[in-house]
Amino acid sequence: MRQSRVLREMLAETRLTRHGLVQPLFICDGEAVERPIESLPGQAQFSSDMIGERAKQIQAAGVPAVILFGIPDHKDPVGSSSVDPSGVVPRAVRAIREATPELIVIGDVCLCEFTDHGHCGILDGQDVDNDSTLEVLAQQAEVLANAGCDIVAPSAMADGQVQAIRERLDGTSHEKVLILSYAAKYASAFYGPFREAAGSTPAHGDRRGYQMDPRNSREALQEVALDIDEGADIVMVKPGLPYLDVITRIHDAFEVPVAAYHVSGEWAQIQAAADRGWIDADEAYLESLDSIRRAGATIIITYGAEKAVALIDKR
Ligand code: PBG
Repeated sequence: MRQSRVLREMLAETRLTRHGLVQPLFICDGEAVERPIESLPGQAQFSSDMIGERAKQIQAAGVPAVILFGIPDHKDPVGSSSVDPSGVVPRAVRAIREATPELIVIGDVCLCEFTDHGHCGILDGQDVDNDSTLEVLAQQAEVLANAGCDIVAPSAMADGQVQAIRERLDGTSHEKVLILSYAAKYASAFYGPFREAAGSTPAHGDRRGYQMDPRNSREALQEVALDIDEGADIVMVKPGLPYLDVITRIHDAFEVPVAAYHVSGEWAQIQAAADRGWIDADEAYLESLDSIRRAGATIIITYGAEKAVALIDKR
């Protein structure tokens, strides 16, 4: 049954398609900036005046969506630049909307890139104060929706964040803005390159107080159930490959679409091993995405979305 390529295609149980791919973009302050990110080969930080052109390339490659992360110059304890309507991300959203009206724009809702301490919320002493964080996240979501995001993606792992955001969006005429919730976000070592790219490594402590313990998957089901109840339209598992079982359990237990984030460390390790000639980057990458798809994710956030489209097309 496996002898010809045509047969293999015919018999493939799952199909990775370009329609579910999302390209992350990092937006910085300044003008005419395109700064390569060393820890994330092939990725760069862009200033918002440059992002329209980048969006056109992504759309032309056949990738339907982008997710934006802000890297502002100004960081403070409460992450105030995250709620600035003329901050880095809202400016970029407007530029992308204008350059590529069809591209789906997702805004990450979290404080870690905007706080000087690098934690995902407002602190009370050394710990994140859950409830005061909710208000800022709701405000950030509103600002992103006003700028034109189709989807907001809360990733702070604050309890009640989906409900707080849904209520705010509904109360500000943004009923049609979707919520993609990072429902099962693990306290993972695979975020290392992202934190370097976004300058969001916690200045003290770690994120284990709010991100999930890698040893747990039943807890992931509970997180997802709560988020769906609060109004999540799509739920995400993050990282991807180490948590395929979690993707499958969620896919089987709930009716909402499942997304997975093939994170920075997963991407960087493929590139690093390929640089040494130890693995074939393209094959290892496609196999990773196929596996995430097979596990049950229909949406995959990935640093090589354009590359993935090309690999799918020439399969
Ligand atoms: C938090 C956030 C993180 C990533 C995306 N959004 C991680 C974190 O530092 O907890 C990581 C993504 C990646 O590693 O590619 N706002």
